Amino acid sequence: MIKLAPSILSADFSRLAESVREVEEAGCEYLHIDVMDGHFVPNLTFGPVVIKSIRKKSEMVFDCHLMIENADLYLEEFAKAGADIITVHQEACTHLHRTIHRIKELGCKAGVSLNPATDLSTLEYILPDIDMVLIMSVNPGFGGQSFIPQSIQKIKRLKENIEEKGYKIDIQVDGGVTAQNIAEIVDAGANILVAGSSIFGKEDVGVAVRQLRAAVVR
Ligand code: DX5
Ligand code: ZN
Repeated sequence: MIKLAPSILSADFSRLAESVREVEEAGCEYLHIDVMDGHFVPNLTFGPVVIKSIRKKSEMVFDCHLMIENADLYLEEFAKAGADIITVHQEACTHLHRTIHRIKELGCKAGVSLNPATDLSTLEYILPDIDMVLIMSVNPGFGGQSFIPQSIQKIKRLKENIEEKGYKIDIQVDGGVTAQNIAEIVDAGANILVAGSSIFGKEDVGVAVRQLRAAVVR
């Protein structure tokens, strides 16, 4: 079963709680929360304060994608704010192994994300310790970009590697996921699909969610 993770980056922040309720009612399993620091990526979003306030409004799995430097300094705050999954970037963590174990100590699931140009081999020695790999299929920082086609090959290779080793690791894909390409992404091996503009960018969130799910089945 695939899981949908609507990214609130594309939501209307003047009615954030309502938007979150809409995707929850539409049956989306995860809420994807994009945290940006203006250093690791050229954009700024929000931090634990916002997460804490929407936590009271939703039972969804809070999937926090940290696009920040010095993540170690903030992990505890994100966990306390209500994160269920904390994903950090391989490129932004000098002591990735330590960071992952700290996330788990805090009671969260640990994910590691790779930028489009980062090789899968960078994860070889930490794969046994993580719960999820997030393959970025756009350069992180903004919603509404086009899916980078080489990502398909990367997802396939990762899936093969995980199966070969017998690990239980989710493969999440983030960036440019649409009803047109979601089937190919799932066929390649992804099981958690982030969708910003193809859910929150649509007039009717419920219809958008149904279209994405129907496209996977076809
Ligand atoms: C980009 C973010 C994504 C973004 C995806 O840096 O990590 O989660 O919101 O947006 P879409 O689905 O519009 O590409
Ligand atoms: Zn994201």
